[in-house]
Amino acid sequence: MTKYRKSLASLVGTLTLLTGTILTVPTVNAVDGASNIEKGKAIAFGRTQGNCLTCHVMDNGESPGNLGPPLIAMKARFPDKAKLRAQIWDPTVANPESAMVPFGKHKVLTEEEIDYLVDYIWTL
Ligand code: HEC
Repeated sequence: MTKYRKSLASLVGTLTLLTGTILTVPTVNAVDGASNIEKGKAIAFGRTQGNCLTCHVMDNGESPGNLGPPLIAMKARFPDKAKLRAQIWDPTVANPESAMVPFGKHKVLTEEEIDYLVDYIWTL
């Protein structure tokens, strides 16, 4: 089992290098949802990645901005997870005047990073 975990971790590490992300590779729970949520949080809070805190009060984030609404009760507001993803991928569809970065459309984040991000945001 330990051996399996190690080889899985090195596989994830290789993929992480290949995709050019700067996330740390989790050594435990590499296969369950929790680690994806942790990766998503790192992306959301990362100043060079999602940087969602610039505009949104969320989770335990420090010094948030308030240009956008607080990201709370996301499952209640977005029962359909795909709609939440679409909102983050390109907010200008719902609001052409949106001040929010179209993270997917403008390739600020990769599709994989957006998947992790949505997994995390949906827990808020
Ligand atoms: C430059 C400011 C800015 C940044 C950075 C930003 N947002 Fe937003 N966001 C907004 C604004 C403004 C709105 C309000 C709706 C609109 O105008 O599009 C919004 C709306 C949203 C909504 C819809 C909320 C609702 O209740 O309808 C979600 C979800 C969201 N943002 C997620 C994110 C995530 C996740 C990130 C980081 C990856 C992020 N935002 C980064 C400004 C921002």
